[in-house]
Amino acid sequence: MKREVLPEKEFAPTVADEIVTSILEVLEEQDRCSICLSGGTTPAAIYRLLGLPPRFGEVPWKRISFYWGDERFVPAEDARNNSRMVHDTLLHQFRNTPLPSVYPIDTSKGSAAAAAADYEQVLLRSGLFREKGKGFDIVLLGVGEDGHIASLFPQSKGESDKPEHELSPERLVVSCHHPTDGSERITLTPRALFAGPRVFFLVTGAAKQPIVERIFSHPELSPQEIPALYSKDAAGEVLWFIDQHAGGDL
Ligand code: 6PG
Repeated sequence: MKREVLPEKEFAPTVADEIVTSILEVLEEQDRCSICLSGGTTPAAIYRLLGLPPRFGEVPWKRISFYWGDERFVPAEDARNNSRMVHDTLLHQFRNTPLPSVYPIDTSKGSAAAAAADYEQVLLRSGLFREKGKGFDIVLLGVGEDGHIASLFPQSKGESDKPEHELSPERLVVSCHHPTDGSERITLTPRALFAGPRVFFLVTGAAKQPIVERIFSHPELSPQEIPALYSKDAAGEVLWFIDQHAGGDL
């Protein structure tokens, strides 16, 4: 797995530059660029930089389509909502600039399952998954301390019932519960996350050092144990951006 360990202060600028470079490469080949955004806290600094000069002026945002890798089943205005985080860090900057197309997961539906079914239709209507080996042009993912990605959580040992994304691997979006606080989540499945040409993992902080160590020392472990290892079956390139604290002795 390709990785780049970066000094803390260089992490966000380097990743923001890599995202801009990748967007422009995609737009040399096709009219639009689809980006599946990560939630959580790590990407916030990167999204802020994308919304400021010089990078903000380098991207033809009206040719960009934003999607989300997962969402907490909370109202859009809730501070825990991932689409709100992207609005507060990046989308609020679009005043007179032509807007990107934005497809947040609609959590106003009656249940997380209904929100997942609705977003499945959004992705199917996008045409991005019409051909095998096609998906989002760029996917951004964080990693939890337990190795989860999006809201794909480790399966605890002896867990009898398989998670929905394993029961229905053809699905692009499913609903689930957070394993510790039980909160309802909507998440893209490994099929949706890893179908495209490039995935960037974004990992910072000393708290992530143990899971980063396990991922890179034991790639043979199962994705059911460490969901970040679903990336082993990615159709495209997977690049890990890790800061010095999470990178440890890598
Ligand atoms: C979410 C994210 C989740 C996140 C990881 C890492 O909804 O929280 O999709 O998968 O990327 O939990 O979170 P941090 O970036 O906050 O460490």
